[in-house]
Amino acid sequence: MEALGKLKQFDAYPKTLEDFRVKTCGGATVTIVSGLLMLLLFLSELQYYLTTEVHPELYVDKSRGDKLKINIDVYFPHMPCAYLSIDAMDVAGEQQLDVEHNLFKQRLDKDGIPVSSEAERHCCNTCEDVREAYRRRGWAFKNPDTIEQCRREGFSQKMQEQKNEGCQVYGFLEVNKVAGNFHFAPGKSFQQSHVHVHDLQSFGLDNINMTHYIRHLSFGEDYPGIVNPLDRTNVTAPQASMMFQYFVKVVPTVYMKVDGEVLRTNQFSVTRHEKVANGLMGDQGLPGVFVLYELSPMMVKLTEKHRSFTHFLTGVCAIIGGMFTVAGLIDSLIYHSARAIQKKIDLGKTT
Ligand SMILES: *[C@@H]1O[C@H](CO)[C@@H](O)[C@H](O)[C@H]1NC(C)=O
Repeated sequence: MEALGKLKQFDAYPKTLEDFRVKTCGGATVTIVSGLLMLLLFLSELQYYLTTEVHPELYVDKSRGDKLKINIDVYFPHMPCAYLSIDAMDVAGEQQLDVEHNLFKQRLDKDGIPVSSEAERHCCNTCEDVREAYRRRGWAFKNPDTIEQCRREGFSQKMQEQKNEGCQVYGFLEVNKVAGNFHFAPGKSFQQSHVHVHDLQSFGLDNINMTHYIRHLSFGEDYPGIVNPLDRTNVTAPQASMMFQYFVKVVPTVYMKVDGEVLRTNQFSVTRHEKVANGLMGDQGLPGVFVLYELSPMMVKLTEKHRSFTHFLTGVCAIIGGMFTVAGLIDSLIYHSARAIQKKIDLGKTT
């Protein structure tokens, strides 16, 4: 009994007798409002706790020799598909001229609507059928003169027909993980004494409008929260025969998800340079859109983590306790000022 009496001295929460407590309407209002606020704050804290945080680290990239996958989706509203060729080359000396396989060209009409027709066709009575068949297989249409149907119809006539069209290029490129470039340029490309040349004889240089819209460009898979700085950029060519250069720095990135899944991909930063190109040789500038990429020696590792449960608990306690105290202050303020006013009024009545 004696010990219990001693223990009572440590009570930080001495109780008042219920008889001396009054319940007021002001108090009830404060209680309800503060209760609602508490709930709101608790829910926002809970929502924050349930998200994951991403922890970045920087390393020197030691993984070499992989392939780099470049995802491409670009529109050229004034460049007919028949004119446009896509080449990729890198410092290792590997070249992919007029890239085939995984890159597709879709013809667009004047208004940017895709021209015909995944509809079944009987292959291959006309040059167009052959071309279409090539396109559906994802092959570039390189050498019309070797195809009988085209020789018969005259390919240049076809070129004339597509004159006012545009082109959408989409798909992906797979290149070595070393510096290099790829470009979209008018004219068939070829090697001439170790210089990369485009045959532009068939067009007037002042008809080349390299206006382009980059819907998507990325160097690998997307991870949650990735920013691809070139996505949805619209670039209008103010003059004919412009050369657009994009200098890209690719930053290898590893993204570790909470569930242990590892995503190896790349981020990039980019600057653009543009000029009027009047030569037909590479060094004098060639009309077209050029993407020159380099790899960063540093690698970013992003690790997704759950938020700390103890932090969540601390937050919740702070919300409940803080709200309770503040509400108590407000309540006593209301109560006492109401009483003071009442007293004044009473005094006024008696005099
Ligand atoms: C290219 O086309 C765009 C419209 O898409 C136009 O605004 C621009 O002036 C054209 N450039 C040239 C040089 O004709």
